[in-house]
Amino acid sequence: MRPILGFGLGLRPPHYTAILAAQPAIDWFEVITENYLVGGGRPLHFLDAIRARYPVVMHGVSLSIGSTAPLDLDYIASVRRLAGRCEPEWISDHLCWTGTDGANLHDLLPLPYTLEALEHLAPRIHRVQELLARPLVLENVSSYVSYTSSAMSEWAFLSELVERTGCRLLLDVNNVYVSSRNHGFDAREFLDGIPVEAVQQFHLAGHLDLGTHVIDTHDAPVRDEVWDLYAHALRRFGPVSTLLERDDNIPPL
Ligand SMILES: [Fe+2]
Repeated sequence: MRPILGFGLGLRPPHYTAILAAQPAIDWFEVITENYLVGGGRPLHFLDAIRARYPVVMHGVSLSIGSTAPLDLDYIASVRRLAGRCEPEWISDHLCWTGTDGANLHDLLPLPYTLEALEHLAPRIHRVQELLARPLVLENVSSYVSYTSSAMSEWAFLSELVERTGCRLLLDVNNVYVSSRNHGFDAREFLDGIPVEAVQQFHLAGHLDLGTHVIDTHDAPVRDEVWDLYAHALRRFGPVSTLLERDDNIPPL
């Protein structure tokens, strides 16, 4: 049984003081892990104060689970230390790679959906789960390129990964929509191909529709097409902890 936290908001620094002053009726907050890895200072001060009042989930962007570079054990140890401090409901990152050979490309890059990639990922996910002492929750990324070597759909790949590793899924409904438009697949077929019990969390966010392609901007309200897809997701998966992400043009709380 997955825990149902209700409706949450991505914790962003412009909202720190307003949250503490108003204590709004938001069910939970998702924090960007990397913003709190320094062992002191203002961000951690606010995280402690907000955590005392709300459940939190840790959401990372640096694990690079799909890379061929070795796992960054120092980074994983720092994630575990932070988890010891803020006791998150769960820890998530992205099913992607962000660099290799010491280069950080500062982007969440998609993987080829192949057996070879599954065989590469599974032991790395097992290792991270051992080190963090909990299941890893992995998010589907939005993408703008695909690989000619891909041998299965993204949803078949995610399902197989869950089967092999026991990891959980953070389904970003907006990312499913964005990728469906950019790659020409049916977003509902994606959702219908994901095992119901694997889904731990949903993300919702805004995007920019340029007609020929769609960019995952996180700088605008959620669009109607994504709300419609979210309704479909709720019919399939039942209640799932849902998180609204906004990273630019952040409105007042
Ligand atoms: Fe997301």
